[in-house]
Amino acid sequence: MDISSNNQKEFVLFGASGDLAKEKLYPALFDVFQPTDTIRYIGYARTVIRNDAFKKIVRDSVLKKYPEADAKKLDIFIDRFEYCSGTYDAHGIEQLKRNSSTVDRYYYLALPSSYTLLKDIVDGLSVHGLNKKSIIVLEKPFGSDKLSAKRLNELLLKHFSEDQIYRIDHYLAKDLVQDMLAMRFANPIFWPIWNNTYIESITISIKESEGIRDRGQYYDQAGAIKDMIQNHAMQLLAFTVMDQPKSLSASAIHKEKIRIFENIQLFNNDTLHTLAIGQYEGYRNEQHIPADSMTETYASMTVEIDVPEWRGVPIRIVSGKKLDEKTTDIIITFKKTNSNLWEKEGCQIERNQIRINVQPHNDIHLRLNSEFNSTQKCALPINLHFGFKDNKHLLKDPYENALRDLFNNDQSIFIGSQEILLAWKFIDTVLETLNISRAKNLEIYDHLHLPRTEQL
Ligand SMILES: NC(=O)c1ccc[n+]([C@@H]2O[C@H](COP(=O)([O-])OP(=O)(O)OC[C@H]3O[C@@H](n4cnc5c(N)ncnc54)[C@H](OP(=O)(O)O)[C@@H]3O)[C@@H](O)[C@H]2O)c1
Repeated sequence: MDISSNNQKEFVLFGASGDLAKEKLYPALFDVFQPTDTIRYIGYARTVIRNDAFKKIVRDSVLKKYPEADAKKLDIFIDRFEYCSGTYDAHGIEQLKRNSSTVDRYYYLALPSSYTLLKDIVDGLSVHGLNKKSIIVLEKPFGSDKLSAKRLNELLLKHFSEDQIYRIDHYLAKDLVQDMLAMRFANPIFWPIWNNTYIESITISIKESEGIRDRGQYYDQAGAIKDMIQNHAMQLLAFTVMDQPKSLSASAIHKEKIRIFENIQLFNNDTLHTLAIGQYEGYRNEQHIPADSMTETYASMTVEIDVPEWRGVPIRIVSGKKLDEKTTDIIITFKKTNSNLWEKEGCQIERNQIRINVQPHNDIHLRLNSEFNSTQKCALPINLHFGFKDNKHLLKDPYENALRDLFNNDQSIFIGSQEILLAWKFIDTVLETLNISRAKNLEIYDHLHLPRTEQL
């Protein structure tokens, strides 16, 4: 869908009164806004808000993130906003028909996940012909299993073509994840050794120190595997191991990710032992959580990708809440050197390791055995470190990256429908295998007594 014509652009934000809009989207829209752009913004939600009050909400939200925002740019930006109150269905959406024949539209759904709500909106847009010359942007979750994801895809594809649908996974929009493409494919010191000949294991880990906050109603239905692993962790995994794409086009990148998802080994009783689940102490006392809830707030599993270059490499995926730290890491551990030069001297050589900290440090560590100790006759490890923290101006908020790509019609970091179905196919087997013995496997932990697999 080429929305880059000279037509006037409008960005319609469904859920304009919500948290995501205020915390992330208004500041991100401001960041990517150029006063020379002619784009206009329509905030849409059920809550009745006067236009001037709405503009103040947007201004406050921008200033909260950018207290030093350029006043002139901010005035021009705010002037482009208007608010429209209505229901999320054909009746309410009829108001958006105004000007619609002369504008290209982005419809961003910053709304709680609900099939019925989404159906009412896409049907409503379609009834009024607003699905033409438009792009629809969606937040996860994209279904709750393969069947519901398929139903969701069918609904969307009934009214929009695949290149009109942008599914956001903000983890993929994080700078370090995108930088991995450059690191892996622009450096001949890395790409020839990025395979099972040299790599021993990979760990993808998304750990949070917070609990579920006020998301109990949603979270208890989902759990760590659906909430974090099915989407963020699996997308990070695909970016880490996918083969070099033929080009940097979205379709070439998606093709390589799909090859990984197609070949991820499905879970069964033989691989059940690689799976660990836990629930943090006190979870059952959280708001909206049943006293006998068996939902996992922690999960760890080891997977393998059945392609020639990765066969035999264990890939550990971990995600959990209320752990001892908040960190997202991709750790690549290389095999031991096959030279016995050092062993002869009684020196144990450490494995090379690359640790990409996606958040909060935004840095890369490379462990190299590069210090020669002449007394011990040993090569000692040194940690090379490149930190974006020291170059903060280089770092962008993921939503800013995502919106910039959206306005450039670039779907590379957005998720395609086939990827979603394949990721669910895998996760469905994990959950089916696990559910037989969920009660037996669920370990209660707290930050002093972490799940056993975290203590190794
Ligand atoms: N908040 C974040 O930082 C964040 C981060 C990443 C992803 N997300 C995702 O972004 C989406 C929106 O999140 P959010 O935190 O902004 O949600 P939210 O604040 O709970 O809801 C957004 C807006 O949706 C409307 N709404 C709420 N419940 C509704 C219902 N049952 N039926 C119809 N409309 C309803 C409300 O507007 P009106 O009542 O005025 O219509 C509300 O202001 C979710 O899918 C979430 O998973 C959020």
